[in-house]
Amino acid sequence: MLLRGIISTPLPSLHLKKTNRNVCVSAQTTSINKFSISDQELESRGFILRRTISDLNLDHLNSVFVAVGFPRRDPEKIRLALEHTSSLLWIEYKKTQKPVAFARATGDDVFNAIVWDVVVDPSFQGIGLGKAVMERLIEELLAKGIYNIALYSEPRVLGFYRPLGFVADPDGIRGMVYSRKNIYKKS
Ligand SMILES: CC(C)(COP(=O)(O)OP(=O)(O)OC[C@H]1O[C@@H](n2cnc3c(N)ncnc32)[C@H](O)[C@@H]1OP(=O)(O)O)[C@@H](O)C(=O)NCCC(=O)NCCS
Repeated sequence: MLLRGIISTPLPSLHLKKTNRNVCVSAQTTSINKFSISDQELESRGFILRRTISDLNLDHLNSVFVAVGFPRRDPEKIRLALEHTSSLLWIEYKKTQKPVAFARATGDDVFNAIVWDVVVDPSFQGIGLGKAVMERLIEELLAKGIYNIALYSEPRVLGFYRPLGFVADPDGIRGMVYSRKNIYKKS
Protein backbone atom coordinates (compact mmCIF):
# COMPACT_ATOMS: atom_id res chain seq x y z
CA MET A 1 0.00 0.00 0.00
CA LEU A 2 2.83 2.35 0.72
CA LEU A 3 4.06 3.59 -2.61
CA ARG A 4 6.22 6.36 -3.98
CA GLY A 5 5.78 9.82 -2.60
CA ILE A 6 6.76 13.08 -4.17
CA ILE A 7 8.53 14.32 -1.08
CA SER A 8 12.13 13.33 -0.80
CA THR A 9 12.09 12.29 2.88
CA PRO A 10 12.40 8.53 3.40
CA LEU A 11 9.06 6.79 3.70
CA PRO A 12 8.35 4.55 6.69
CA SER A 13 7.52 0.95 5.86
CA LEU A 14 4.22 -0.52 6.96
CA HIS A 15 3.19 -4.14 7.31
CA LEU A 16 -0.46 -4.31 6.38
CA LYS A 17 -2.64 -7.34 6.89
CA LYS A 18 -5.57 -7.81 4.53
CA THR A 19 -8.98 -8.10 6.20
CA ASN A 20 -12.44 -6.75 5.62
CA ARG A 21 -13.58 -6.57 9.25
CA ASN A 22 -14.34 -3.06 10.45
CA VAL A 23 -14.25 -1.88 14.01
CA CYS A 24 -15.73 1.23 15.52
CA VAL A 25 -13.40 3.69 17.17
CA SER A 26 -14.04 7.06 18.73
CA ALA A 27 -11.89 10.07 19.48
CA GLN A 28 -11.04 11.05 23.01
CA THR A 29 -8.86 13.94 21.93
CA THR A 30 -9.96 17.29 23.33
CA SER A 31 -7.67 19.49 21.26
CA ILE A 32 -4.93 19.39 18.69
CA ASN A 33 -2.53 22.21 19.43
CA LYS A 34 -0.58 22.23 16.24
CA PHE A 35 -0.60 20.38 12.99
CA SER A 36 2.19 18.00 12.09
CA ILE A 37 2.52 19.84 8.79
CA SER A 38 1.47 23.45 8.32
CA ASP A 39 -0.65 24.79 5.47
CA GLN A 40 2.41 26.73 4.28
CA GLU A 41 4.57 23.62 4.27
CA LEU A 42 1.92 21.73 2.33
CA GLU A 43 1.81 24.60 -0.16
CA SER A 44 5.59 24.61 -0.51
CA ARG A 45 5.45 20.91 -1.33
CA GLY A 46 2.93 21.50 -4.10
CA PHE A 47 -0.32 20.82 -2.24
CA ILE A 48 -3.34 23.04 -1.65
CA LEU A 49 -5.69 22.39 1.23
CA ARG A 50 -9.34 22.78 0.34
CA ARG A 51 -12.50 22.79 2.46
CA THR A 52 -15.30 23.05 -0.12
CA ILE A 53 -16.37 20.94 -3.05
CA SER A 54 -16.51 23.82 -5.52
CA ASP A 55 -13.26 22.83 -7.27
CA LEU A 56 -13.47 19.12 -6.53
CA ASN A 57 -13.77 16.89 -9.58
CA LEU A 58 -15.90 13.99 -8.37
CA ASP A 59 -14.70 11.61 -11.09
CA HIS A 60 -11.13 12.19 -9.91
CA LEU A 61 -12.21 11.67 -6.30
CA ASN A 62 -13.97 8.47 -7.32
CA SER A 63 -10.73 7.31 -8.95
CA VAL A 64 -8.89 7.80 -5.66
CA PHE A 65 -11.61 5.80 -3.86
CA VAL A 66 -11.26 3.00 -6.40
CA ALA A 67 -7.45 3.13 -6.25
CA VAL A 68 -7.52 2.36 -2.50
CA GLY A 69 -10.09 -0.42 -2.94
CA PHE A 70 -13.36 1.36 -2.20
CA PRO A 71 -16.20 0.54 -4.60
CA ARG A 72 -16.73 3.02 -7.45
CA ARG A 73 -19.82 5.04 -6.61
CA ASP A 74 -22.31 7.00 -8.68
CA PRO A 75 -20.79 10.55 -8.92
CA GLU A 76 -24.26 12.07 -8.55
CA LYS A 77 -24.75 10.20 -5.26
CA ILE A 78 -21.30 11.29 -4.12
CA ARG A 79 -22.24 14.90 -4.94
CA LEU A 80 -25.44 14.60 -2.87
CA ALA A 81 -23.58 12.98 0.03
CA LEU A 82 -20.96 15.72 0.01
CA GLU A 83 -23.63 18.40 -0.08
CA HIS A 84 -24.99 16.85 3.13
CA THR A 85 -21.54 16.76 4.69
CA SER A 86 -20.83 19.57 7.12
CA SER A 87 -17.06 19.13 7.49
CA LEU A 88 -14.91 18.17 4.57
CA LEU A 89 -11.25 18.52 3.68
CA TRP A 90 -9.26 17.55 0.65
CA ILE A 91 -5.81 18.18 -0.69
CA GLU A 92 -5.20 19.10 -4.29
CA TYR A 93 -1.90 18.34 -5.98
CA LYS A 94 -1.18 21.61 -7.76
CA LYS A 95 0.70 20.02 -10.64
CA THR A 96 -2.25 17.88 -11.77
CA GLN A 97 -5.06 19.82 -10.07
CA LYS A 98 -6.36 16.45 -8.85
CA PRO A 99 -7.44 15.46 -5.34
CA VAL A 100 -4.86 13.28 -3.61
CA ALA A 101 -6.23 13.20 -0.04
CA PHE A 102 -9.75 13.42 1.32
CA ALA A 103 -11.73 13.08 4.57
CA ARG A 104 -15.20 14.14 5.65
CA ALA A 105 -17.47 14.03 8.68
CA THR A 106 -21.23 14.02 8.99
CA GLY A 107 -23.31 14.43 12.13
CA ASP A 108 -25.71 16.59 14.09
CA ASP A 109 -23.28 19.53 14.19
CA VAL A 110 -23.76 19.77 17.96
CA PHE A 111 -22.83 16.58 19.84
CA ASN A 112 -21.75 13.87 17.42
CA ALA A 113 -19.84 13.33 14.22
CA ILE A 114 -18.80 10.33 12.18
CA VAL A 115 -15.77 10.40 9.92
CA TRP A 116 -16.06 8.83 6.47
CA ASP A 117 -14.03 8.28 3.32
CA VAL A 118 -10.53 8.90 4.65
CA VAL A 119 -8.35 8.26 1.63
CA VAL A 120 -4.98 9.16 0.21
CA ASP A 121 -4.04 8.39 -3.39
CA PRO A 122 -1.65 5.40 -3.21
CA SER A 123 1.06 7.37 -5.02
CA PHE A 124 0.95 9.98 -2.24
CA GLN A 125 0.62 7.75 0.81
CA GLY A 126 3.21 7.77 3.56
CA ILE A 127 4.13 11.46 3.30
CA GLY A 128 1.79 12.86 5.95
CA LEU A 129 -1.24 13.82 3.87
CA GLY A 130 -3.67 11.46 5.65
CA LYS A 131 -2.58 12.82 9.01
CA ALA A 132 -2.81 16.39 7.65
CA VAL A 133 -6.47 16.04 6.62
CA MET A 134 -7.46 14.12 9.75
CA GLU A 135 -5.82 16.60 12.14
CA ARG A 136 -7.66 19.47 10.49
CA LEU A 137 -10.97 17.62 10.35
CA ILE A 138 -10.75 16.83 14.07
CA GLU A 139 -9.75 20.41 14.85
CA GLU A 140 -12.73 21.74 12.89
CA LEU A 141 -15.14 19.44 14.76
CA LEU A 142 -13.65 20.33 18.15
CA ALA A 143 -13.92 24.03 17.28
CA LYS A 144 -17.64 23.46 16.74
CA GLY A 145 -17.83 21.93 20.24
CA ILE A 146 -18.30 18.41 18.90
CA TYR A 147 -16.38 16.10 21.22
CA ASN A 148 -17.82 12.72 20.25
CA ILE A 149 -16.17 11.75 16.99
CA ALA A 150 -16.51 8.18 15.73
CA LEU A 151 -15.35 6.26 12.70
CA TYR A 152 -15.19 2.75 11.29
CA SER A 153 -11.66 1.51 10.86
CA GLU A 154 -10.24 -1.40 8.96
CA PRO A 155 -8.09 -3.29 11.51
CA ARG A 156 -5.01 -2.60 9.38
CA VAL A 157 -5.55 1.15 9.77
CA LEU A 158 -6.09 1.25 13.56
CA GLY A 159 -2.45 2.26 13.98
CA PHE A 160 -3.05 5.31 11.81
CA TYR A 161 -6.02 6.53 13.88
CA ARG A 162 -4.66 5.81 17.39
CA PRO A 163 -2.05 8.60 17.49
CA LEU A 164 -4.79 10.99 16.36
CA GLY A 165 -6.66 10.25 19.60
CA PHE A 166 -9.04 7.48 18.53
CA VAL A 167 -9.51 4.43 20.74
CA ALA A 168 -11.22 1.17 19.85
CA ASP A 169 -14.15 -0.01 21.98
CA PRO A 170 -13.90 2.84 24.54
CA ASP A 171 -15.11 1.61 27.96
CA GLY A 172 -16.08 -1.65 26.29
CA ILE A 173 -18.58 0.04 24.01
CA ARG A 174 -18.90 -1.88 20.74
CA GLY A 175 -20.10 -0.47 17.45
CA MET A 176 -23.01 -2.20 15.73
CA VAL A 177 -23.95 -1.78 12.10
CA TYR A 178 -27.26 -2.44 10.37
CA SER A 179 -26.27 -3.12 6.81
CA ARG A 180 -28.20 -4.61 3.92
CA LYS A 181 -24.92 -6.22 2.88
CA ASN A 182 -24.84 -8.19 6.16
CA ILE A 183 -28.48 -9.22 5.84
CA TYR A 184 -27.95 -10.53 2.31
CA LYS A 185 -24.88 -12.43 3.55
CA LYS A 186 -26.99 -14.36 6.09
CA SER A 187 -29.86 -15.29 3.75
C1 LIG B 1 -4.87 5.10 5.88
C2 LIG B 1 -4.43 6.27 5.04
C3 LIG B 1 -5.55 7.30 4.94
C4 LIG B 1 -3.20 6.91 5.69
O1 LIG B 1 -2.81 8.04 4.94
P1 LIG B 1 -1.26 8.37 4.68
O2 LIG B 1 -1.18 9.68 4.04
O3 LIG B 1 -0.64 7.22 3.97
O4 LIG B 1 -0.69 8.40 6.17
P2 LIG B 1 0.35 9.45 6.73
O5 LIG B 1 1.53 9.51 5.83
O6 LIG B 1 -0.35 10.73 7.01
O7 LIG B 1 0.77 8.75 8.08
C5 LIG B 1 0.65 9.39 9.33
C6 LIG B 1 1.18 8.46 10.39
O8 LIG B 1 0.36 7.29 10.44
C7 LIG B 1 1.17 6.14 10.21
N1 LIG B 1 0.35 5.23 9.40
C8 LIG B 1 -0.12 5.41 8.17
N2 LIG B 1 -0.85 4.36 7.77
C9 LIG B 1 -0.81 3.47 8.79
C10 LIG B 1 -1.35 2.18 9.00
N3 LIG B 1 -2.11 1.58 8.06
N4 LIG B 1 -1.11 1.56 10.16
C11 LIG B 1 -0.35 2.16 11.12
N5 LIG B 1 0.17 3.40 11.00
C12 LIG B 1 -0.05 4.04 9.84
C13 LIG B 1 2.39 6.63 9.47
O9 LIG B 1 3.49 5.78 9.67
C14 LIG B 1 2.60 7.98 10.10
O10 LIG B 1 3.24 7.83 11.34
P3 LIG B 1 4.18 9.02 11.93
O11 LIG B 1 3.28 10.22 12.11
O12 LIG B 1 4.66 8.46 13.21
O13 LIG B 1 5.23 9.24 10.91
C15 LIG B 1 -4.00 5.82 3.61
O14 LIG B 1 -2.98 4.85 3.74
C16 LIG B 1 -5.12 5.25 2.79
O15 LIG B 1 -5.77 5.98 2.05
N6 LIG B 1 -5.34 3.93 2.88
C17 LIG B 1 -6.34 3.28 2.06
C18 LIG B 1 -7.73 3.70 2.42
C19 LIG B 1 -8.07 3.37 3.84
O16 LIG B 1 -7.78 2.30 4.34
N7 LIG B 1 -8.68 4.37 4.49
C20 LIG B 1 -9.13 4.23 5.86
C21 LIG B 1 -10.47 3.57 5.86
S1 LIG B 1 -10.88 3.04 7.50
